[in-house]
Amino acid sequence: MAAALRRHLTAKARAGIRVIPKDRPRESNPVAPALSESSLLITGDPAVYESKTLDELRAAIGDCRRCKLWSGRTHLVFGVGNPSARVMFVGEGPGRDEDLQGVPFVGRAGQLLTDIITKGMGLKREDVYIANVVKCRPPENRNPEPDEVESCEPFLKKQVDLVRPKIIVALGKFAVQCLLQSKQPITRLRGQWHEYQGIKLMPTFHPAYLLRNPGDKKLVWEDIKKVIEALKSA
Ligand code: URA
Repeated sequence: MAAALRRHLTAKARAGIRVIPKDRPRESNPVAPALSESSLLITGDPAVYESKTLDELRAAIGDCRRCKLWSGRTHLVFGVGNPSARVMFVGEGPGRDEDLQGVPFVGRAGQLLTDIITKGMGLKREDVYIANVVKCRPPENRNPEPDEVESCEPFLKKQVDLVRPKIIVALGKFAVQCLLQSKQPITRLRGQWHEYQGIKLMPTFHPAYLLRNPGDKKLVWEDIKKVIEALKSA
């Protein structure tokens, strides 16, 4: 019973679902394996963490209004690509083009990402999986706010769980710091292997940054070469 409950709680935690004892304040939020099912209050959406496929997850997210970003969106940008991809790219959040089309990385920065995937890695866009930390466009492309990330990151966690890529490439300061729960500068984090949900993660610069700073493309190429090398033995 204790082992089953531990597995149950771990699955929820991986999906970003908070499970707290009914009689304890939210701040103390131990995932305590000794608790019985009846003493638990589950916060979050069971349909999200119980999803078995990306399509089920997308359906569970539905016409999301879990944070304030819903009011400004044209489309919720869920993610695209191979559901069994070996490489997953994670950006910050949709921009204008992505919001209009409902597809991640389709604007100018997206074209550069596509070049990295196709010309740099010799893959097709359809071979990889591409998603963002938040699924709805922040107004004026501002950084997502903490409550927006808190509402949305469980979906990304579940996407990672379902795709189970060999490698995640985190694009740009925001996504990198958010996934790694780090305040260190991207210049320090990039180019080194890290881990997210037990999966190797390579931080690199965001393609939009590269459009403004093309001189740093060589650094991204160094990072991508490490990814290509690691994929050979993954
Ligand atoms: N920038 C991102 O971080 N994600 C997109 O989908 C597009 C631009």
